[in-house]
Amino acid sequence: MVIFGAAGDLTARLLLPALYNLARADLLSKEFAVLGVARAQISDDDFRKRIREDVKQYCGECIDDAIWDSFVRRFYYMAGDFNDDNLYPKVKDRLATIDRDHSTHENFFYYLATAPKYFGLIVNKLSAVGLMQQNDGHWRRVVIEKPFGHDLESAKILNQELLKLANEKQIYRIDHYLGKETVQNIMAFRFANGIFEPIWNRRYIDHVQISVAETVGVEGRGSYFDQAGTLRDMVPNHIMQLISLTSMEPPISFDANAVRDEQAKILHAIQPMSDEEVLARAVRGQYGEGTIGGEHVPGYREEEDVPPDSRTETFVAMKLLIDNWRWADVPFYLRTGKRMPVRNTHIVIQFRRAPFVLFRDTSVEHLMPNQLVLHIQPEEGISLQFAAKVPGPVMRLGTVDMNFEYQQYFGKQPSTGYERLLHDCMIGDQTLFQRADMVEAGWSVVNPVLDLWKALPPRNFPNYAAGTWGPKEADELIERDGRRWRNFTE
Ligand code: BG6
Repeated sequence: MVIFGAAGDLTARLLLPALYNLARADLLSKEFAVLGVARAQISDDDFRKRIREDVKQYCGECIDDAIWDSFVRRFYYMAGDFNDDNLYPKVKDRLATIDRDHSTHENFFYYLATAPKYFGLIVNKLSAVGLMQQNDGHWRRVVIEKPFGHDLESAKILNQELLKLANEKQIYRIDHYLGKETVQNIMAFRFANGIFEPIWNRRYIDHVQISVAETVGVEGRGSYFDQAGTLRDMVPNHIMQLISLTSMEPPISFDANAVRDEQAKILHAIQPMSDEEVLARAVRGQYGEGTIGGEHVPGYREEEDVPPDSRTETFVAMKLLIDNWRWADVPFYLRTGKRMPVRNTHIVIQFRRAPFVLFRDTSVEHLMPNQLVLHIQPEEGISLQFAAKVPGPVMRLGTVDMNFEYQQYFGKQPSTGYERLLHDCMIGDQTLFQRADMVEAGWSVVNPVLDLWKALPPRNFPNYAAGTWGPKEADELIERDGRRWRNFTE
């Protein structure tokens, strides 16, 4: 594994702890080694010391010395500038030595933990020195982080550039949401059980809500975030994964392309919005100062590296419609924002009401509808809300919850969410990675919104206080249809 950007935050927080967790689970091949590449002029030994610090800080579990020594011996470091043509022949030589010492069979994957401007450039230069070519039975793969483009056009250009240098089977476009157990569980829940799929359609489902609420602000990433905004940062990637897994048809197998074909079909079936529809069905917001968990936090425009008159959105809500037989007329409401009152990602499947209520003292209007909630994070589980009789001499109904909690059944595994994804790169399973067509389909959904929002800059920012559920227009969006967001408050 070659990590470009080995001194960066992603490597420290996620890649190194994930590799260590794989080593602990005995899932790292004995024939595995890592070459870190970054600008800093440090030695292999310095790099190894740094790795220990990073793993200690981010792993959350003590380091096991018995595993550590054989783990850290596999790490090497090389200083260099990604723009420099001379770096790549040196990488090639170093890989040849490491390959000999660790018997890695010339199977290399390159993890681009870098700024997006380097994605095409690094693959180009690797290719120029023969490091992307797959001959004699070995493989070469490249892992690309997000953001994959900043709109439809740029995503297409990046795809074209990469596909000139490598074939689709060599390209692993990562979306860390697919590394989350609870996201993978959406497929297990739907397709390993006989009872849900028959009612998973427009006859029984009233609507779907997807909420990705974060309490954090921009966490020192102001300069990136102010260029991107929440729509680009969260919707074409993470939220599209949640939508496609929740709504896709059952694949014919768990083969990577069978699954991704179905996800791509759904993304293509999302109705493109006209300008009028964007105005009616998409809401943007930016937080002002406020209070979260009893603590005062500054507004977005006061954050580091954010211009004081920034018009970048930190909140988005939308109503999407999927044009196919299963979902016609079933709205998918989504919302995501920074500085919400709680960190909570969940998917609510709301079923249609019982057509007629026999119980004298409870009218249909007072009954909560059946909701199935997929809790993605931080709570991990599934709950079903239904009506039950309140004990007592008269027949009265109340709403109760049936809960499944992951942790209660399976305990808690130390995990960063990257273990499965890295392991999949090593064994060559692309199921949880984005194909070129999926990335482009995700951008196609948001592109009309990006265009219109650019043409009509917001006038009322900031329009929600930190620590609230977004601007009032987000509530109006769903309430206009006679529905309500389900807010989880802890
Ligand atoms: C990243 C975004 O892709 O996802 C961040 O760039 C966001 O802005 C993060 O905070 C959310 O990920 P998670 O795993 O914390 O839900």
